[in-house]
Amino acid sequence: MVTVMVEQVDRIEDLRRRKAMAEAGGGQGRISVQHAKGKMTARERVELLLDKGSFMEVDALVEHRCRDFDMDRNVISGDGVVCGHGTIDGRLVYCFAQDFTVYGGSLGEMHGLKICKIQDMALKTGAPIIGLNDSGGARIQEGVASLGSYAEIFFRNVRASGVIPQISVIMGPCAGGAVYSPAITDFVVMVDKTAHMFITGPEVIKTVTNEEVSFEELGGASTHATRSGVTHFTAEDDEGAIGIVRELVSLLPSNNLEKAPVLMTDDPFDRACEALENLIPEDSSQPYDMLLAVEEILDRGSFLEVQADFATNIIAGFGRLGGHTIGVVANQPMFLAGCLDIDASIKAARFVRFCDAFNIPLLTFVDVPGFLPGASQEWGGIIRHGAKLLYAFAEATVPKLTVITRKAYGGAYDVMSSKHIRGDYNIAWPSAELAVMGAQGAVQIIHRKRIESSKNPDQERGRLVDDYAETFANPYKAAALGYLDDVVQPLETRAALTRALGALLEKEEVRPARKHGNIPL
Ligand code: HXC
Repeated sequence: MVTVMVEQVDRIEDLRRRKAMAEAGGGQGRISVQHAKGKMTARERVELLLDKGSFMEVDALVEHRCRDFDMDRNVISGDGVVCGHGTIDGRLVYCFAQDFTVYGGSLGEMHGLKICKIQDMALKTGAPIIGLNDSGGARIQEGVASLGSYAEIFFRNVRASGVIPQISVIMGPCAGGAVYSPAITDFVVMVDKTAHMFITGPEVIKTVTNEEVSFEELGGASTHATRSGVTHFTAEDDEGAIGIVRELVSLLPSNNLEKAPVLMTDDPFDRACEALENLIPEDSSQPYDMLLAVEEILDRGSFLEVQADFATNIIAGFGRLGGHTIGVVANQPMFLAGCLDIDASIKAARFVRFCDAFNIPLLTFVDVPGFLPGASQEWGGIIRHGAKLLYAFAEATVPKLTVITRKAYGGAYDVMSSKHIRGDYNIAWPSAELAVMGAQGAVQIIHRKRIESSKNPDQERGRLVDDYAETFANPYKAAALGYLDDVVQPLETRAALTRALGALLEKEEVRPARKHGNIPL
């Protein structure tokens, strides 16, 4: 009897010891190095991400089974990644956090399979998955077994795309093919200075192309926020990044069969938007800040901008209208006069497709003089890329609300969630101009001969421009055709949109059954 009890105590002691070893990761020395770099440990990050006390770990006792390069002498329980589930604002989420203190967070066979298990659980239960990445990439000692696990993760990322929200946070290195898991996920958050993403590093680039570029310039957060558009959010530190994830998750539904949680607001739905009364300048060639319109119309303080520093000629982001999550796309006349170019089209198209996949209604603000002219745009494939945005809006079946504040010219008018591609509630301000092009350009084309043969060409041109502007530079031709559902004062816009959204919440619209469409890529 005594022997049995001693054995039991020993077993419990053994379990405790094993769990403690798993918890210690790569040990105190390496944890101190991690902290010295301004980075939190994997476990600290998970604790901060999830509601207090809600984390439930799985696979803490998983071990690698590599026997090459003396790896059998260094087996660390958990294999360098902390996995499990917990809650954010009481809602279930799955997460994994790579532990840089264990083999540099590198991804070996079992480390990868732990992530796969979490991905499978998230998909089965219809809960968002959040990956906290901090890794030296494929575990070099494990060779192709490591590549195999990577591909298993990529496959699951694709399978879950459009079914559950997938969010990647880059909190350290993320190089080589490892970048493709975050790239497939819906949102990437990078920590400034400590996060780096690239396919090949500065040394390889120097060898192959002779270009000299620093880590930071090549793949730092600011590069990916402004130049490549790879990252959607940038944070100053780990804490900031985790804060962004929590805010984002609060705005999203848990899966594609649900709607986003409704957050009651004390902001009156019919609040008059007085700040918008003088927003549009008298001279229609003058810019103004569309962000002011977005923020004034949405529930106070609810707007979370996505890719704020990339393709700044278009705004994308989530907010709430009457408590309901809404995806906002808006031309920004402050940059490139609000023209659509390649980057803006791609940025907005992916955002629209995310919203449509996750039952998030779309609110589009239009002030667009057209697609950006230029040989570099044409050669870069603006036809193909601009078509993405057209495709995305046309394919979207969520409620679509559109406000034309000023210019809606040419093909861009059609693209920006117009009535013709099935906008549900399309309105304009009295300052709206819906036409094939601006009055100057139009007159130059249709009245060139008349102007040239006139005794006073400048005066004649001016008269014709005024005439054209009076005929077309207003919303009333379009309203007369039913292309606009209403023309409203800026003051009334919030009230009109909130009521329209309320009426559209149960909208159902179907497209023909098919395996999938063929969006221009
Ligand atoms: C095994 C690795 C590792 C890796 C780092 N370590 N990367 N172990 N496989 N890929 C180990 C180091 O040996 C070291 O162990 C510990 O992690 C910390 O690394 P340090 O180099 O001391 O840290 P630091 O100076 O901060 O540099 C971090 C780093 C660097 C920039 C990530 O370690 C690095 O360049 N690693 C190699 C990156 C790489 O080339 N990976 C393969 C990319 S290709 P000790 O015991 O000494 O502390 C790829 C393909 C994916 O990933 C394909 C998917 C399809």
